[in-house]
Amino acid sequence: MNSFLSRTSYWVLALFLALAGSATAQDATSAATVSQQGVTPGGAAGANPATGGGDAAAIQAGDALFKANCTQCHAVNEKVVGPALAGITKRRQIPWLVKWVKNPAKVIASGDEYAVKLFNDYGKQQMPSFALSDQEITSIMAWVTSQEGQKTVADGGGAGVTKENQTATDGQDGSGAGAGKYADVLLIVLVVVLIVLVVTLVIIANLMKDVLRGRKDLDGRDVEILEQRFDWAGLYKSTALRGIVGAVVALALLYAGVQSVMAVGLTQGYQPTQPIAFSHKLHAGENNINCAYCHTSVYKGKSANIPSANICMNCHSQIKTESPEIKKIYRAIERKQPIQWVRVHNLPDLAYFNHSQHTQVGGIQCQTCHGPIQNMEVVYQYSALTMGWCINCHRETPLNTKGNAYYDNLVKLHDKSNNAVPFTVSSNGGTECSKCHY
Ligand code: HEC
Ligand code: HEC
Ligand code: HEC
Ligand code: HEC
Ligand code: HEC
Ligand code: HEC
Repeated sequence: MNSFLSRTSYWVLALFLALAGSATAQDATSAATVSQQGVTPGGAAGANPATGGGDAAAIQAGDALFKANCTQCHAVNEKVVGPALAGITKRRQIPWLVKWVKNPAKVIASGDEYAVKLFNDYGKQQMPSFALSDQEITSIMAWVTSQEGQKTVADGGGAGVTKENQTATDGQDGSGAGAGKYADVLLIVLVVVLIVLVVTLVIIANLMKDVLRGRKDLDGRDVEILEQRFDWAGLYKSTALRGIVGAVVALALLYAGVQSVMAVGLTQGYQPTQPIAFSHKLHAGENNINCAYCHTSVYKGKSANIPSANICMNCHSQIKTESPEIKKIYRAIERKQPIQWVRVHNLPDLAYFNHSQHTQVGGIQCQTCHGPIQNMEVVYQYSALTMGWCINCHRETPLNTKGNAYYDNLVKLHDKSNNAVPFTVSSNGGTECSKCHY
């Protein structure tokens, strides 16, 4: 009876510890989702058109679009590379603005007086064209209007980021961090409750033992269990334990050995020093410059080009002109020689990889393959880039076949023969040798 009691108390304890474990695990997953949502890769990410859901939705969509496409050159109440956009809907009509954002060069070329004057006033700097819809541009303007007149504090050295943008971003991050904080508080409360429970249980167990010790009707076996102590010396001497520990160590060594042999020829983690201390963290992260602003062909072509010095000059003709690192860009341009960036990713020639197929058609984010580039001071190779890596993803990733008539019959055939598994890249032949090998 007594041993039964103490055993139950241990079981209760174990149960609570298990619960605590699962609570932590849950918290970890929710944190992971939060951080995933926190990653806002450029490009298509910003393209959430306001689907006609009223002003608030339009403003919100405009906010995201502005951040993804315009922040690097514009702020609402302050001149950055381009003019402050406050009051823009009073200076210009929406149809003009739509035309302008879609193709500023065309508006200037058409001889539009306002545009030509603006272009000259801004040192003939060309604003890039944007493949945004009329509605998307309208929602950007709605957001700009909603921000007009809010106080901004210039960020030191005209870095291209205003305090206002920053607080807006902070606000956005804040909601994520808020959720994280909430989970943290919950976790702390849980841990405290558990500690209290454990202490209480230990006290109860000891009390019960004391009560039992005072009883006269215990037989020899009961006393033995009651006075049981853990036998550390016995455990240390036990051959079974030594055997298990030995086997675990041997397995770990074997695993490490196999891993290092398998890694021959792999360049995962490769992080060469670049000729200019260019930081993705500063540009793509803190200044939120869209990846495709520099890697212009990543949504259109096979390879994601490395930007030429001219693209750097869009901003660095004015930003940090005295920095020795920036002067290296000027020198390259004077000498008419490209900057000698060191290539990080390099598939062997026998494999064919196409960016637009993955980013534009497949809708895969850069970070899925390249990792948290927006946090990297110096780029490193995040993924293994092995054949197994490509194939695994093709086996696991369902194809986006919606609204694509080309796939309709294929999906129907697939569902007829094998309804249980989704239509993945590999169901469409994405693991056939010839798809990746010439
Ligand atoms: C690479 C920098 C750059 C980016 C990115 C950029 N612009 Fe511009 N923008 C400029 C410059 C520079 C001008 C001034 C005109 C000129 O020199 O062509 C300008 C002018 C404008 C004007 C006219 C302002 C006025 O006072 O009349 C509007 C409107 C505008 N941009 C909207 C946008 C929007 C919306 C986006 C994002 C979708 C955007 N721009 C992205 C550089 C940029
Ligand atoms: C301001 C321009 C700029 C922006 C914005 C930018 N990059 Fe880059 N990127 C570069 C330059 C320059 C290099 C070559 C130097 C280096 O490796 O750091 C590069 C290199 C890379 C490489 C390594 C290429 C190789 O050699 O294999 C990857 C991957 C990459 N960028 C991804 C991204 C992603 C993803 C984003 C958006 C989150 C992004 N870049 C935003 C300019 C930019
Ligand atoms: C859209 C604007 C933009 C473009 C394009 C751009 N940069 Fe920058 N860059 C910035 C801003 C903003 C800063 C931060 C300046 C500051 O800290 O005050 C910066 C800072 C830097 C710095 C750090 C300078 C220092 O001494 O602190 C380097 C180096 C640099 N950029 C290199 C490049 C290179 C190389 C390219 C072309 C591949 C490039 N940038 C393209 C906006 C841009
Ligand atoms: C499905 C995985 C995948 C995705 C998604 C992806 N990349 Fe890549 N990226 C690669 C691979 C693989 C290479 C090496 C290509 C080679 O060596 O031919 C590469 C190479 C690059 C390079 C070096 C130049 C080149 O094309 O070889 C840059 C820059 C780059 N990626 C930028 C980006 C950006 C920016 C995005 C998001 C818009 C992106 N990548 C999305 C897999 C990916
Ligand atoms: C993160 C997941 C992912 C990784 C990693 C990945 N792919 Fe893909 N790949 C896709 C998706 C999704 C598609 C289908 C895009 C579409 O057509 O909708 C695709 C399509 C393709 C296609 C066209 C297939 C066809 O049926 O036409 C080729 C070729 C390809 N990938 C090559 C590669 C190579 C080579 C690598 C490795 C260097 C690679 N992929 C890595 C997700 C991935
Ligand atoms: C989704 C794309 C993809 C498919 C499908 C694919 N491969 Fe590959 N394969 C690759 C990539 C990427 C590499 C280069 C990997 C590396 O360098 O580690 C490669 C490398 C190889 C190599 C060279 C290995 C080496 O060590 O140099 C051989 C051989 C090969 N593949 C054969 C095949 C055969 C046979 C098939 C069909 C059963 C196939 N591959 C299907 C992407 C693919």
